Amino acid sequence: MRLRQRCEHFNALHSQISAQGINPYFRPIAQTWGTEVEVGGKRLIMIGSNDYLGLSHDPRVMDASAQAVYHWGTGPGGSRFLSGNMVLHHHLEERLADFVGKRHVVVHVTGFSANLGALGVLITPADTVLCDRENHASIFEGVKNTKARLATFAHNDAAHALKRVEDAKAARPDGDVFLVTEGVFSMSGELAPLDEIAAIKDAHPDVVFYLDDAHGLGVFGRGGRGSADHFRITDKVDFIMGTFSKSMASIGGFIASDDEDMLRYLRYQSRTQIFSAALPAANTVAVLTCLDILAKEPERVDRLHEVTVRMRHAYRDIGLRIGNSSSPIIPIIIGSDEKAFFFSRALFEAGIFALPAVYPAVPRGQALIRTAYMSTHQDRQLDVVLSVLEKLAKEFRIRECDLEEDPQSAAGEEEGDAPRGKLSYL
Ligand SMILES: Cc1ncc(COP(=O)(O)O)c(C=O)c1O
Repeated sequence: MRLRQRCEHFNALHSQISAQGINPYFRPIAQTWGTEVEVGGKRLIMIGSNDYLGLSHDPRVMDASAQAVYHWGTGPGGSRFLSGNMVLHHHLEERLADFVGKRHVVVHVTGFSANLGALGVLITPADTVLCDRENHASIFEGVKNTKARLATFAHNDAAHALKRVEDAKAARPDGDVFLVTEGVFSMSGELAPLDEIAAIKDAHPDVVFYLDDAHGLGVFGRGGRGSADHFRITDKVDFIMGTFSKSMASIGGFIASDDEDMLRYLRYQSRTQIFSAALPAANTVAVLTCLDILAKEPERVDRLHEVTVRMRHAYRDIGLRIGNSSSPIIPIIIGSDEKAFFFSRALFEAGIFALPAVYPAVPRGQALIRTAYMSTHQDRQLDVVLSVLEKLAKEFRIRECDLEEDPQSAAGEEEGDAPRGKLSYL
């Protein structure tokens, strides 16, 4: 299909959902208070944010970031490789290494670019990359650029991953085998069985284990040290990738490893590091301040879990289908894409901000509303959310008992379905 046709095809679909008033994406937020936002003059309770610890509105983080602007200016003026490298970046790398339990860290300007840059440097066409089928788009993009052989294993299935490792080693004995998964999956909220996956390294120590912990950092592990710490398998992970765009109230990303040579190679060779501007001072200082706060106030992480457990139980009491979430991300599985769009609009009208995810972001026929909670959500806000959900769940017939009768919601994974990494809804 030529560019013009592709564009027209997309725009026809876009107009169709916009005409029905159900396009939930790119909603302009006029003002935010963290757990509440204003959109189109309407104040809404936000249950779709990744700011899990609510730190992007903590006055200490805001003040430190503002001071950093006065001290360092607003932009970095170049890539870290050349003129944009600040002592702040090095401080942050040391602090993060200590926090996640690895010896060295390289900071990038976003999480997406950390995956793209790191996978691009570490992997060659002779290698095989084994990805969990539900991995994030940045991982699939990063692997695609390397021209390595990509194979997926069934979601969170360590036995299947092991089988793939054995097949890959037999088929391509001269290449390296990479095992890439996430700590917490961004749509389902499921925690990966990292203990089982890390055990693959016992039998195959040469396999390179790369963990994207975008949604586990600040959420799991002692004081928010991440999913690898939660399972006490940090020493078995070769590379831990994390982002600052979730719990760390900023933007940016990093790669942590015990291998200094490997990280120096990555620092000097990552194309998204060398050919992209450095993380601005305000964002860097925001993360440093979050780490200070987490060290002093680990109870923030406890509060996040309290909120999460309360909401998970309440969702089940209402009868919602929520899959196997064990994190602050709690999906409401709805089934049909169309119903998910209409449900999201109904939530909006009732004063709640939460967005749908449809195929290929999630398995076919399992469209969901992605809800995510913050440690700063107040009980009165959670009460409102639950009473709205209870009412709308009945109205839309999306309770477990209703879905069992709905053939569309039974659709599952099909051979040839796109991996989750492709996030084009329209
Ligand atoms: C699992 C995962 N990895 C990487 C990223 C990219 O991170 P960032 O938003 O910091 O670029 C995301 C963001 O959505 C993510 O969910």
